[in-house]
Amino acid sequence: MTTIVVAMGEKNEIGSGNQLLWHLPKDLKHFKDLTSGHPIIMGRKTYESIGKALPNRTNIVVSRKKNWFQEGILIVGSIKEAVKFAKKIDENIFIIGGGNVYEQTMEIADRLEVTLVKANLEADTYFPKINDKIWKKTEETCHEKDEKNQYDFCFQTYEKVNG
Ligand SMILES: NC(=O)c1ccc[n+]([C@@H]2O[C@H](COP(=O)([O-])OP(=O)(O)OC[C@H]3O[C@@H](n4cnc5c(N)ncnc54)[C@H](OP(=O)(O)O)[C@@H]3O)[C@@H](O)[C@H]2O)c1
Repeated sequence: MTTIVVAMGEKNEIGSGNQLLWHLPKDLKHFKDLTSGHPIIMGRKTYESIGKALPNRTNIVVSRKKNWFQEGILIVGSIKEAVKFAKKIDENIFIIGGGNVYEQTMEIADRLEVTLVKANLEADTYFPKINDKIWKKTEETCHEKDEKNQYDFCFQTYEKVNG
């Protein structure tokens, strides 16, 4: 199973200035629960935005740069290679962004784990449109904002139709 994990606003916005657009500890915990123990694949910009390897997961970073090395991550030159390595480690792999990598992986993904944040924010990076001819929402759990989580949001699971 290849799963894309994303948190996006109501206009599919996901980032600005190489940062996330919100602070939602409940979503960070959800992300950790989903991905811990499994390989994660990300673009070089997302890795730099996080700033370190995430613990308890094999971090696979795609980049076309030559002679770029970082402690604690596996760097590969293509998405195909990233998926090949990840699948050697575990059948369940997670693609965690960003926008550029999502665009290239919607076709190979079997499932989307979306956090839909009930906000409309200025952004420079977006998630691709979720085509309802291709994707069917199979689960949804919503949470209201509180003192620590600044917006209402819903965890949604989408499965590929006939996938
Ligand atoms: N809300 C969310 O769930 C979420 C999740 C993740 C990220 N984000 C946000 O998204 C933004 C970053 O996304 P982004 O679209 O700018 O960048 P990105 O997808 O994280 O990284 C793009 C980089 O990945 C490498 N890359 C992409 N495709 C490749 C391929 N086929 N082969 C080899 N290398 C490839 C290239 O690195 P090189 O330039 O090194 O060659 C490219 O510049 C940030 O704002 C971040 O906070 C949000």
